[in-house]
Order: sequence, then C-alpha cells, then structure tokens
Amino acid sequence: MSRFEEDARLAVEAARWAPSPFGRRPWRFRIGDRRIGVRADAGRALDVADPQGREMLIGCGAALHTLALTLRHLGHAPRVRLLPDPDLPFLLADIDVPEGGGDPGEETERLYEQVEPRHGDRGVFRPDPVPAGLPATLREEAGREGVTLRAVTEPRDRDALGALAGAADHLEPYVPGRDPARSRGWGLPEVWGRPGTGLVVLLTTPEDSPAAWLGTGLALQRVLLRARAEGASAAFHTHVLELPELRELIRVRLCGGRFPQVLLRLGLLDPEQVPPRRPADALVQEDY
Ligand SMILES: Cc1cc2nc3c(=O)[nH]c(=O)nc-3n(C[C@H](O)[C@H](O)[C@H](O)COP(=O)(O)O)c2cc1C
Repeated sequence: MSRFEEDARLAVEAARWAPSPFGRRPWRFRIGDRRIGVRADAGRALDVADPQGREMLIGCGAALHTLALTLRHLGHAPRVRLLPDPDLPFLLADIDVPEGGGDPGEETERLYEQVEPRHGDRGVFRPDPVPAGLPATLREEAGREGVTLRAVTEPRDRDALGALAGAADHLEPYVPGRDPARSRGWGLPEVWGRPGTGLVVLLTTPEDSPAAWLGTGLALQRVLLRARAEGASAAFHTHVLELPELRELIRVRLCGGRFPQVLLRLGLLDPEQVPPRRPADALVQEDY
C-alpha cells in the first residue's frame, strides 16, 4: 500500500466518527490515485423518516469534512470539489490530494483531536452556560459553508421549539426514544427553559437542495468540532424537522423563511460512553 493509500485509509477511519442519522453512516469512499471519491449510500438511508435523503446528505457532509480535516492533519493539502449534479445525485465530491502539503498547523490539530471523542450527548447538560463567545464563533464556522447558525435565545421561541420537539415525539411513534430529550425532559412543559437545556441552535440555508444539505453537513461538523474544542457538547433534536408540517412552521415563524436543517442544544460536557462505529473495511469498495 502506498503512503497515500495508507493515509486515505486513516482518513476513512476517522470519518466513521462523524455524526449520521441513527448512526447509519450512509457514505462510501473510493480511493484512487491521489484522489478520494465520496458518495452517498442510499441503501443506508431512512425511507420513512428521510424520503428525500436530506438527512442522509447532511451526514455525508459531516463525513466529508472529517475526511478532509484528517488529510490535513496527516500533512496533505486536499482540494475538495463538490459535485452538485442532479443526474448523479449520489456522487457527492472528489478530493484531490496533490503531492506536497505541509505542517497542518495548530488549529487543524486542535479540531482533529475532537473527531474521535465527539459524540452526541443524550441528556440534560450541566446548568452552567456555554462560554460567552461561543455562539459568535459557531456562527462564523457555519457561515464558512454558506449556512446560518441561529442561536435561539428568546425564551418564547425556545419554548416553542421545545413544544414542537415534544409534539414530534408523539407523532413519530416509529422511532421511540430517538430524541435524546424524550426521557430527559426537554420538550416537556414543566422543564422548558431549565438551565440544563443549554443553548438551542438552528442551522438554516436559503435553499432546500441537495447542495444545501451537503453544505449543512460540512457546517454541522465544523460546529460540533469547534464547540467541543471550546468544551461544549451537542444533543440533536432534528427529528422535529422530519415532519413537513412542523418544519414549515419552524421555517416561517422561527427562521425568517430560511430552511431549517438541523436543531441542536449545546451545553457543557458530561462524560459518557462512546457508541461503537462500523469498521472501515465495510466502507471502502472498488465498485461503489
Ligand atoms: C442529520 C442528522 C440528524 C440527526 N437527528 C437526530 C435526532 O433527531 N435525534 C437524535 O437523538 N440524534 C440525531 N442525530 C444524531 C445521530 O443519532 C448520531 O450522530 C448517531 O447516533 C451517532 O452517534 P454520535 O453522533 O454520538 O457519534 C442526527 C444526526 C444527523 C447527522
């Protein structure tokens, strides 16, 4: 195996730590001559919850960001080319990895260190607020991928989202217990607004297209890794956006008409068990 192939394998390994709907990791990679292809694996999409493949592509974007970050950590200078071709919707990106590269730099290393230990939190956070500058930092991270991060700090709006998340729990019986808040309280009237709710954020895009979904995934992983580098962990409540009527309500009333793609709470870390990952062997194929 060439040095490049070895590094490409390491990057594929690292991408396994990216978040994906139900942890299904719906992506595939093809390792070529100083090149890695990235595609969605529709066979691992969620037919009922995600008929358009929106969440699938968000997960793929998070994996793509992780892959490129790891290549930079390994001293490469990857060039990511997104492939927004409506006729080939599952081919997502080509990454060229030219000879040369260099020192990854402190910032890359700091973010890379978060890849493996990052995981979704499953409960109420510690009551302390997140660091004061965090929302602005995360807004900037998301903005680099053309995605808007909105911190929902107005109690009225936050409570409305909590109520809708609770409603989605009742309306989506096929995935009982998926929402990490379900058994922990967020989404229940008596606990909305408690300090352990954390900072509620929405990622939104001006359009609702496969390119926007992929971009959201790139932004999501940027946000999650940066948040963790600043000591904050995330809980997902994106299931509420799987119900078109609720998503439309959130779009119109809480996102100024932009399309809501991901709903998260961010709070201070609680140590917790890390879930298992699919092995890298299952993710690399000749014919993908
Ligand atoms: C697009 C997307 C939507 C998600 N929606 C939810 C959700 O609604 N509720 C939830 O508990 N987790 C959700 N997750 C988190 C995944 O369940 C989680 O990433 C996966 O189980 C792997 O765990 P980890 O992130 O801790 O590595 C979502 C992840 C992605 C990428």
